[in-house]
Amino acid sequence: MSTDPFGIREGEIAVDLPAQFDAGLYYIGRIRTPWTRREDCPRNARVSDAVCTIELDARWKQALQNVETCTHLLVLYWMDKSRRDLVVQAPRHYHKEQRGTFALRSPVRPNPIAASVVRLISIEDARLQVVGLDCLDGTPLLDIKPYFPSTDAVPEAVVGWHKERSGPE
Ligand SMILES: C[S@@+](CC[C@H](N)C(=O)[O-])C[C@H]1O[C@@H](n2cnc3c(N)ncnc32)[C@H](O)[C@@H]1O
Repeated sequence: MSTDPFGIREGEIAVDLPAQFDAGLYYIGRIRTPWTRREDCPRNARVSDAVCTIELDARWKQALQNVETCTHLLVLYWMDKSRRDLVVQAPRHYHKEQRGTFALRSPVRPNPIAASVVRLISIEDARLQVVGLDCLDGTPLLDIKPYFPSTDAVPEAVVGWHKERSGPE
């Protein structure tokens, strides 16, 4: 069994990845956080109140127009240290019970896109101070969108396998 924090665990299943990519994307900045080791990162965005900095590349600065009016943002980022070939995972914090990749918020997925709703504290030039991130320092930024409670919040939503558990996902 691997002790590598990015390695495969007992009970996990990997598949061959497709031979080629179907699309390209641009990293539009980097996320600065206090965490340099995966095991030190918060397990999800709600369990830390650390202030993190989103450093948007200067090229995209004008795209921040009106963002200062938003209290919360949806931030998409690229989990660049993740493997991408697992279809079944056995997360340590779920007692190594097997779960399908698409039933998890794990960073390990075919396209390691992470999403977090963050609270916006300030914007100065192309730097945004936010609370609510869970990624390693230097993680690439993919996108910033306004969080609309009217369309994004679904209070009655349930994750069945997780329902009986206490604590955050
Ligand atoms: C469970 S994921 C959740 C990500 C996001 N909030 C989501 O729900 O899509 C957060 C974990 O990803 C791992 N992680 C953070 N930054 C990473 C990176 N750059 N590459 C790979 N894994 C990373 C850390 O273990 C962290 O606790």
